[in-house]
Amino acid sequence: MYKTTAELRSAFLDFFRRNGHQVVDSSSLVPGNDPTLLFTNAGMNQFKDVFLGMEKRNYSRATTSQRCVRAGGKHNDLDNVGYTARHHTFFEMLGNFSFGDYFKHDAIRFAWTFLTEDLKLPKERLCVTVYETDDEAFNIWKNEIGVPEDCIIRIGDNKGAAFASDNFWQMGDTGPCGPCTEIFYDHGDHIWGGRPGTPEEDGDRFIEIWNIVFMQYNRQADGTMNPLPKPSVDTGMGLERIAAILQKVHSNYQIDIFQKLIAKTAEIIGTDDLENNSLKVIADHIRSCAFLVADGVMPSNEGRGYVLRRIIRRAVRHGNKLGATDTFFYKLVPTLIEVMGDAAKQLADTQAIVEKALKAEEEQFARTLERGLGILDNALSSLEGDILDGETVFKLYDTYGFPMDLTADVCRERNITVDEAGFDVAMAEQKQRAKAAGQFDTDYNATLKIDSETHFSGYEQLSADSEIVAIYIDGEQADKASAGDKAVVVLSSTPFYGESGGQVGDQGLLVLMALNLLWRIHKSMVKLQAILVA
Ligand code: SER
Repeated sequence: MYKTTAELRSAFLDFFRRNGHQVVDSSSLVPGNDPTLLFTNAGMNQFKDVFLGMEKRNYSRATTSQRCVRAGGKHNDLDNVGYTARHHTFFEMLGNFSFGDYFKHDAIRFAWTFLTEDLKLPKERLCVTVYETDDEAFNIWKNEIGVPEDCIIRIGDNKGAAFASDNFWQMGDTGPCGPCTEIFYDHGDHIWGGRPGTPEEDGDRFIEIWNIVFMQYNRQADGTMNPLPKPSVDTGMGLERIAAILQKVHSNYQIDIFQKLIAKTAEIIGTDDLENNSLKVIADHIRSCAFLVADGVMPSNEGRGYVLRRIIRRAVRHGNKLGATDTFFYKLVPTLIEVMGDAAKQLADTQAIVEKALKAEEEQFARTLERGLGILDNALSSLEGDILDGETVFKLYDTYGFPMDLTADVCRERNITVDEAGFDVAMAEQKQRAKAAGQFDTDYNATLKIDSETHFSGYEQLSADSEIVAIYIDGEQADKASAGDKAVVVLSSTPFYGESGGQVGDQGLLVLMALNLLWRIHKSMVKLQAILVA
C-alpha cells in the first residue's frame, strides 16, 4: 500500500495516466495572465482558457498535482492554521480534467474506482452529495456505482440566486463553473460531526475528500451563465486529506510530510514539546513561503509579496514563542525538499535563493520582534475588556513590522480580538499625512518624456555596458548629475529590474567606463557599466 504522501501522489497520477490522461506539471503559484487571482488556488486554474474554448491543447484529458496557496484574497485560510486539523496556507490538489471528452459517467466511475479499488477504501465509509436538481448524477451513483440511496445527499441552497452556492463550484465571480458532486469519508463515530446537509456537518467526522465539478457554464460579471462550448470535468482532491486517511490518522498534521517537518523544527529550535501548535504553524508556513519564493514572489509591502511577508513573520513569531534564539525558518528548506518528493523539483533548483530570501526576512523582522512583542504584552496586560484598540495595532504594524493578522494571532491566544476598523482608520490617517507631506515629491512617470524603450537584459546578465539616454533631477531634464544629487538616469539597456509585481527593485552601481568615476555622471560621457550588487 502507498506508505508515503509522495507515493500516493504518484499512484494518483499513474492511475489517470493509465486511463488516457496527460500528466501535466503543476503550474506556478503565481497565476499566469490571470489578474482575477492572487495565487493559484485550484488545479483547474492553469486550464481556465482550455475550458473556455479559447486555448487548444493536444490532449483532451489531463491530470495534475497542483500546488495551491489559500492565504489572502478570496480564499484565506491563514488565520485558521494551527487551530484546526485541516487548514493550510499551502496544499496540493490532485485533479483529473476532461476538456470536452468524458463527462459525468466516467468522472464518477474514475473517482470511485481509484478510491475503492486502488486505495481500497471501505465503501461503507464513503457517502456522496450531488447538486440538488442533478438527477443524472444521482442516478449514476445509485444505479451504476451502487451507492445506497440514503448515502446520496442532494445539496443546494437556492435562496433566489441564479444557482445554489453549495455543490455549485465557481473559480471566482466570473469564469468556468458548474454543478458538482462530492465524496465524503467517515472518520468514525468517535469524532463529532454529521453527514453533509445535517446540522452537525461542520464537525470533523465526515470530511470532503474529492470534488468533481461538471463544468458547463461561463459565468459573466452580470451573473449570466453562458454554456461552455463543450461540457467538461474538473476534479480536485486534497492530497494531504487523502494521505491522512491512508496513514490512518485524523489530523493532516499527523501525516509523514508534517511529522518530519515538525520533528525538524523541534530539533532546530530545541524543544521536546512535539504537540505544540506553534510547530504545526511553522510546518505549514514553510511550505507556502518556500514555494512562493521558488515561484518568484519576494517579501515586500504590497500585493503577493506582502502576503508572503505576513506568513513568514507569523512563522517567526511562533518560533520565538517556542524559544528560538537564532534564525531557524530557512533551515527547514532541505527537509521540505526531501519530504515533497517529485513536487519539489523546482524548489530544489532554486534552493539557495529561497533560503537566502527567507533568512533575510527573518533577520530583518527579528530586529524589531522582541520590542514589538514587549509593547503588545504591556498593552494586553493593562487592557480593560477584550478588544485591543486600533491605534496600538497600527503602531505595531507601522513601527515594528507586525502585520495586523500577526497581532490578531497573539491576541487570539488570550481570547482578545483586535479593533480592525480602528486599525483601518489609523492607516487611512497615516496615508493622508504621508500624502500631505509628499505633495512636493516628483512623479517621475508623469515627467519622463522619452521616445525610446530601455532594453532589459537582467535575465541573461548581472552587469552590462550601456549608454545614458537622459538624466532627470527634480523632474527636470539635466545634462549632468554630481555627487549629492538625487537623479534619475535613463539607460539604453539595463540589467536592473524595476520594482514591480511584488519584486523589490534591484540595487547596484553605475560605473563610468572611461573615467571609472562614480561621483559625476555627465550625459556626454555616454558609456557606462551597470553592475548589480546582490
Ligand atoms: N475546482 C474544484 C475545487 O477547487 C475542483 O477541483 O474544488
